[in-house]
Amino acid sequence: MWILNKAYYRTFQVVFWAGMHFIPWIEPKLFIGSGSVLKLPQLMKEKGLQRILIVTDKSLMMINMLDELFEALEKAGIDYFVYDSVQPNPTFENIEDAKQMYLDNNCQCLVAFGGGSPMDCAKATSAKISRPDRPLEKMSGTFRVLLPSLKMTSILPPALWAIPTTAGTGSETTVAAVVSDPTTHKKFPINDPVIRPRYAFLDPDLTKTLPKGMTSTTGMDALTHAVEAYIGRSNTKDTALKAKMAVKMIYENIETAYNDGNNIEARSQMLLASYYAGCAFTRAYVGYVHAIAHNLGGFYGIPHGLANAVIMPYVLEWYGECIHKRLAQLAECAGVSNPEFTDGQNAKAFIDSIKELNKKMDIGDHFPEIQEKDIETIVIRAFKEAHPNYPVPKIMNKEDCISVIRQIMSSNQM
Ligand SMILES: NC(=O)c1ccc[n+]([C@@H]2O[C@H](COP(=O)([O-])OP(=O)(O)OC[C@H]3O[C@@H](n4cnc5c(N)ncnc54)[C@H](O)[C@@H]3O)[C@@H](O)[C@H]2O)c1
Ligand SMILES: [Fe+2]
Repeated sequence: MWILNKAYYRTFQVVFWAGMHFIPWIEPKLFIGSGSVLKLPQLMKEKGLQRILIVTDKSLMMINMLDELFEALEKAGIDYFVYDSVQPNPTFENIEDAKQMYLDNNCQCLVAFGGGSPMDCAKATSAKISRPDRPLEKMSGTFRVLLPSLKMTSILPPALWAIPTTAGTGSETTVAAVVSDPTTHKKFPINDPVIRPRYAFLDPDLTKTLPKGMTSTTGMDALTHAVEAYIGRSNTKDTALKAKMAVKMIYENIETAYNDGNNIEARSQMLLASYYAGCAFTRAYVGYVHAIAHNLGGFYGIPHGLANAVIMPYVLEWYGECIHKRLAQLAECAGVSNPEFTDGQNAKAFIDSIKELNKKMDIGDHFPEIQEKDIETIVIRAFKEAHPNYPVPKIMNKEDCISVIRQIMSSNQM
């Protein structure tokens, strides 16, 4: 049975990978640099957009981060409405409320302002506007917003303009929206190119206010995207290149951004790295680090980037030899390889460097809040997410996953 399952997963992944070449992968139009976000109102005016819904969260409103944008929109004569109740892991309720506000005010497009949570909320809202009849759970998976029951009455999701204020999720370029059901603790991704943002503004001024803990963990989320995409089996030339560029840029800049939040160059590089990592994983997928992390987020509210940062070394060690060559290549990008070393030694150097980065940025090495009684459900849900979709380098069975989670729960690896 196990052999048959594995064969099914691999066949599915190969067929999917081949099919993906026929999908138009249109990246968002990019605006980069300090103050770039202020170009948005003029652009909207040129496109004849008059009424927009901005999706954000209360913390960003409280520190007045949107004030300049509001002023510029007013000057351009654009009516804006603000939905600012997005929670750290956007919920069904957030999405329903944002959809209602959009419809009540006859808006013409969505602007997501914030980290992954507002961006994902806006993406899922656009999906719901297009398919009000389809429950969000049914959109879980890939291509499930419009398909499989495309109706004549379906409308395309409204265009989304994304303004990231964290450098981590890459949601401004991905086809994914991760949503949570707080009653069941389920967190699941909706993957569909129709919800990919059309415009993205990478403005480093907006990330200067990120506290140290958020700078480090969101940066490690971006690193996890690049690493999981690169070691997976569904790369293209472009995803491999972007993943490697992201790893290099993150290693060169994350500590500076962490130690000196006002360093605009480091902030810009981190935003771009996060964008490249997003482009890589949205096509080449992530792996077990994310599948487990999403569930630790759902069960214990552990922030996504923090979960990835802690879990990544354990999962990479579990993969073992099958990823040594790929990790050795990443070690070179990261500047931690030694030409005299074997691939296995360089792979170890790379994993050690991740642990070291975590340590330097005050990120722990385990999650004691994991409850033994939850492990089985975490595994079932992680596998539901990963199998057959994630083209992981090696497929875990239940016992493998339980043993990795037990290490994450109790280890003191450093
Ligand atoms: N769609 C995707 O492709 C994708 C990829 C990875 C993660 N995610 C999802 O993204 C979410 C996490 O996003 P996140 O890590 O960006 O955090 P977040 O959006 O949840 O924000 C966390 C906190 O940081 C604050 N914050 C954001 N930017 C700030 C700034 N510049 N200054 C001060 N405070 C700021 C927010 O107000 C919030 O309180 C998770 O739900 C995760 O599942 C989505
Ligand atoms: Fe992520």
